[in-house]
Amino acid sequence: MNSFGFNVNAERFVLVGSDTQIAAVCSLARKKNWPLFVLGAGSNLVLSKDIPGLVVQLGSASISYQSVGDRHAHQYGSPDKSTSNSSLHSRQSEAVDEAAIVCADAGVNWHQLVLDTLDNGYGGLENLSLIPGTAGAAPVQNIGAYGVEFCDLLDSLDAYHRPTSRWLTLNAADCRFSYRDSLFKQHPGDYIIARLRLRLHRHSPINTSYSGLHKALLDAGKIQPKHQDISRAVCQLRRQKLPDPAIIGNAGSFFKNPIVSADKAKQLRKQFPAIASFELADGQFKIAAAWLIDSLGYKGIRRGFVGVHDRQALVLVHEGGATGEQLMQLAFEIIEAVKTRYELTLVPEPVML
Ligand code: EPU
Repeated sequence: MNSFGFNVNAERFVLVGSDTQIAAVCSLARKKNWPLFVLGAGSNLVLSKDIPGLVVQLGSASISYQSVGDRHAHQYGSPDKSTSNSSLHSRQSEAVDEAAIVCADAGVNWHQLVLDTLDNGYGGLENLSLIPGTAGAAPVQNIGAYGVEFCDLLDSLDAYHRPTSRWLTLNAADCRFSYRDSLFKQHPGDYIIARLRLRLHRHSPINTSYSGLHKALLDAGKIQPKHQDISRAVCQLRRQKLPDPAIIGNAGSFFKNPIVSADKAKQLRKQFPAIASFELADGQFKIAAAWLIDSLGYKGIRRGFVGVHDRQALVLVHEGGATGEQLMQLAFEIIEAVKTRYELTLVPEPVML
């Protein structure tokens, strides 16, 4: 249940299927004084020891679509087709259905959600194709790839707030999103996300701002790519660079890219002319952590059964037989080396438990 493949046990485990059950397990954990941990697909997690208390996983996994303006809301899986006036209803929906709110339960597999929205003709999520994990985990670290972040698409989400035992509906501003960060990451354990609503559009703009993606599309002869073409190109790029967790344990990028001021970026570029840096909309600069690690000779190295991926220096890997602690030792070694050489502090991205 964790993509690194570390062998640890949970003291107790429960799979919950409804909002009532979420509230009930929280109340039980409080009564029994059990620490409670919500597990998604375990794809952004470093487990270093057995987990005390109660591990909760959310089992609900339905997807529904509601056209914006909602004169023709319909449930995915039980749509208009089953009714006698179906063809009329479908035609009306087509006309007003240019934008939709897609509602996904927390337990939906993220990539299945992306594919489902594309199959239904809605764009917006294509750049976020093939990201491992569940829909419910996506807001926690504000997943992002190829020029798009989760927060760009969120309409609202429903979450149980454990400190007050209340259900809340939060919009994107409430979630305090920033690069790989959110309210949920800042207050670990306080919120259990049950479902999210994303705002998608049939004609949402194509985003090929990431240069590698632009090139992949040109190479594939896609001059005017459609949403599905972007998704396919993103899948191809990810498969080229990132190891498949089914084959070798990993959690995608292990460190966040450091964000620095324009002055600091200028100073770094002067000292290290080859450094990979990218200007952000607010004038700050993102320094490629992969470049920093690569430049220090870490790409492809092994320390026992853990190491650095040989095609993406930002990805730490576990070949089986090691512990989360051994992986963390390697992470600390890399943090130390980067700090010494560049005076930059790398921050790990996964949740450590
Ligand atoms: N680079 C190297 N050596 C490497 C890899 C990259 O020097 O081994 C340099 C290259 O100059 C490259 C730059 O680093 O231009 C950036 O690399 P890349 O484009 O692969 O992206 P990244 O910054 O390393 C981020 C996300 C990924 C996301 C990609 C594409 C973070 C922490 N990671 O990686 O997200 O897929 O951009 O948008 O922001 C994840 O979070 O798990 C993840 C895979």
